[in-house]
Amino acid sequence: MSPLPIRLHVPGPTPLPDAVREAGARQMVNHRGPEFKALLGRVTAGLGRAFRTHDTILVLSSSGTGGLEAAVVNHLSPGDPVLAVTIGAFGDRFAKIATTYGADVTRLAMEWGRAAEAGDVAAAAREMAARGRAPAAVLLTHNETSTGVTNPVAELAAAARTVVPDVLVIVDAISGLGAVPFETDAWGVDVVVTGSQKSWMVPPGLAMVSVSERAWAAAERATMPRFYFDLAAHRKSAATGETPWTPAVGVCFALDVAIALLEAEGYEAIFARHRACGAAARAGLRALGFTLFADPAHASDTVTAAYVPDGLEWSALNGALKARGLILAGGQGKLAGHILRLGHLGAVTVNDVLAALAIIEDALIALGLPPGERGAALVEAVRAADASAQVPAGSAV
Ligand SMILES: Cc1ncc(COP(=O)(O)O)c(C=O)c1O
Repeated sequence: MSPLPIRLHVPGPTPLPDAVREAGARQMVNHRGPEFKALLGRVTAGLGRAFRTHDTILVLSSSGTGGLEAAVVNHLSPGDPVLAVTIGAFGDRFAKIATTYGADVTRLAMEWGRAAEAGDVAAAAREMAARGRAPAAVLLTHNETSTGVTNPVAELAAAARTVVPDVLVIVDAISGLGAVPFETDAWGVDVVVTGSQKSWMVPPGLAMVSVSERAWAAAERATMPRFYFDLAAHRKSAATGETPWTPAVGVCFALDVAIALLEAEGYEAIFARHRACGAAARAGLRALGFTLFADPAHASDTVTAAYVPDGLEWSALNGALKARGLILAGGQGKLAGHILRLGHLGAVTVNDVLAALAIIEDALIALGLPPGERGAALVEAVRAADASAQVPAGSAV
């Protein structure tokens, strides 16, 4: 065991504030009793404020993928035409879930590193409609964690609706919601899925899902098989302050405290903090000689992907980072070995990003790739973080 502090910078699970850890270690309560009922009510109301919705919020005990599966099986029938907009590994997974359950999936796949474009979404939906297969649902990824790209969800949803006004818009917001702006009601998103181990500063174990009236109506007609993730059963139980199956009570305790912390900071301040962290990560890595992977116009403020420098093996770089206490993520799928991913979401500050950059610089020097003047990348990172406060929310820095 290393005596060094471990700096966990994967894009989830994220480090936990002490109060959240302590809450997770509390003694159990009866999940059919009044204490849990009050807790579920508080958590659900808090999530509604974070999702910016009046829709039903359900708390499922599963990882985020379970929430995505719930979003598919409750609202669709086998054979339904579905437009899956994929910009990376998680978009591909979402499409695969729909295919697995028998949806007739048309994939709109963007080059990895780029965001989807509204014009392409509209064109794909139009092409499907022209074949007599107008999409019943469009699947979108809010923040593609495998590439470090944030999609313009509002524009993409609106584009799909110009072609099919009542299309269900289902969004994987697992690694973005709570850290970067998301407006469920204002953007007309029908089903939104997030996961506790990301921006929420909570251990893995919960998928939180919002469901619109349009999506509930679709659920009544939908015939895909479902049991554990039957959202109508979850809604029925939620009405009495319960979940249909035994919930991850400890993670719910933690989420309750985390939401209180998030609200004490305020979501605007949280978004600004993530904007500063994203700007610092991008500027710092660039100054260290890395080439960033994502299109700068849509670079994520929760995770930054960069190419492993020429002449270096990811395994060697990762070994040097781990020896210094820094835990990053590598590439997924076809990007394995080619990129690294620095997570900066949840309970993270610019100082944490600076510490990570300092360790990366140190590792590069040790590996014989001196990144220029010592400390210069940190100065660039600080400047970029400061500058991020000057630009309007949602603009890329
Ligand atoms: C965008 C996105 N979608 C889906 C998932 C899958 O979530 P989980 O691993 O919690 O099942 C992740 C996890 O990293 C993610 O970032």
